[in-house]
Amino acid sequence: MEKQRKRRCRVVLVTCPFQGHINPMLQLGTVLYSNGYSITVAHTKSNSINPSNYPNFYFLLIPDGLNECQYSSGDEIAEILRLNDNCKITFQECLAQFMEQLKAQDEMISCIIYDEILYFAESVANRLELPSIILRPAGANFFISRSALLQFKDGGNLSSKGLESEDTVPNFHPLRFKDLPLSKFGSLETMSQLLDNASHTRSSSAVIFNTMDFLEQPSLAKIEQRCQVPLFCIGPLYKFAPALSSSLLKEDISCITWLDKQTKNSVIYVSLGSLTLIDESELAEMAWGLANSKQPFLWVVRPGSVCGSDWLESLPEGFKESIGERGCIVKWAPQKEVLAHGSVGGFWSHCGWNSTLESISEGVPMICRPNSGDQKVNARYLSHVWKVGLELENEVQRGEVERAVRRLMVDKKGMEMRDRAKDLKEKTELCIGKGGSSYNSLNELLKLISSF
Ligand code: UDX
Repeated sequence: MEKQRKRRCRVVLVTCPFQGHINPMLQLGTVLYSNGYSITVAHTKSNSINPSNYPNFYFLLIPDGLNECQYSSGDEIAEILRLNDNCKITFQECLAQFMEQLKAQDEMISCIIYDEILYFAESVANRLELPSIILRPAGANFFISRSALLQFKDGGNLSSKGLESEDTVPNFHPLRFKDLPLSKFGSLETMSQLLDNASHTRSSSAVIFNTMDFLEQPSLAKIEQRCQVPLFCIGPLYKFAPALSSSLLKEDISCITWLDKQTKNSVIYVSLGSLTLIDESELAEMAWGLANSKQPFLWVVRPGSVCGSDWLESLPEGFKESIGERGCIVKWAPQKEVLAHGSVGGFWSHCGWNSTLESISEGVPMICRPNSGDQKVNARYLSHVWKVGLELENEVQRGEVERAVRRLMVDKKGMEMRDRAKDLKEKTELCIGKGGSSYNSLNELLKLISSF
């Protein structure tokens, strides 16, 4: 009865067109749906999700006015800033029209939940007199590090040399200047403009973080002090949502059969997420490092992620023969299932926030090779605070890769990291179980939404 009443209440999710942002938003949508809400996913044209994976959701296309060149410019930051400019009017028009349809069916919109970098949704919510909530898909430490970046930039203290410095940022321990979250996908100017706009709560009613209280307590406490609205930490969201795939690429599930044949904790899983690009020489160094480590490995090489290649053409000669059955290479993996598999004992990652959370939640220690933005912050916390990661800081060279893999997978230091990772996994389980902090926070969020 209660569910039937709620089905007439709809939550509109405004999704950002990148895999690492789509996943937590759709996981949240799945949780809300299982709690009785109807869900509408408002999305732009690029990277849109396959609606057939979510037959119970309604998909609403927001005309974004971007042309093909703008989509493929490689400057993701500029793309997002443009979306914010272009979609204010178009989203308002299509949402107003949609609300008319809902009214005729005796349905209403409870609230809009938007990705923090699509802040145009907040002004639309205001104009249509709807409550809005911000989803911050990355970590609280990243949020805090953004204020360091903005503070130093505004004070004129961020020369390009400063950004490579190993010095600790005053008041932002353990971050060094080189860990500050600059993006490779835009300039310092556009990046700070986006971060500045995304950091305000404006008139939104609440903020959601996909994180756990125990993991990022000091940063969360600072954010809470400054935040005028309730804060909900409900991570890792994927643990609350049944396993529906929000992958933009097809997952190759054959790698699970390959994992089934490997021994416990023996496999190093290698994946650099959905955006990282590498060059041919880095691919070759990674390949030989993995081969020479003598450990079994499962490696995701995303098509198009090696500059100048479609897929594996630039793998070095003799590599495939030298690894035989010891390596499995796929285009895209069912990552959460992979990390939860007993054969996987380590994760070489770019340290995107979702990958970081998934590895911590499954108790898998990491080799950290951050590339851009928040990944450098996450890598620093993984290696220096949570102590479940080894950071590969220099240029990728086969000898270093081989040593890092062996340290993580077979040496005493790696075993100690694995023990700490198991400890974090247990804490995560407590956090999402009945009475745990994420469990309670999620219930509070549901109460807030039902009060609208
Ligand atoms: C981006 C940013 O780069 C990241 O730093 C930010 O925190 C979120 O947005 P991305 O680089 O794709 O995300 O990394 P990540 O956050 O780790 O998200 C990747 C997602 O894709 C994860 O949920 C992971 O499980 C999934 N994935 C990755 C797969 O399902 N299969 C794969 O083969 C690789």
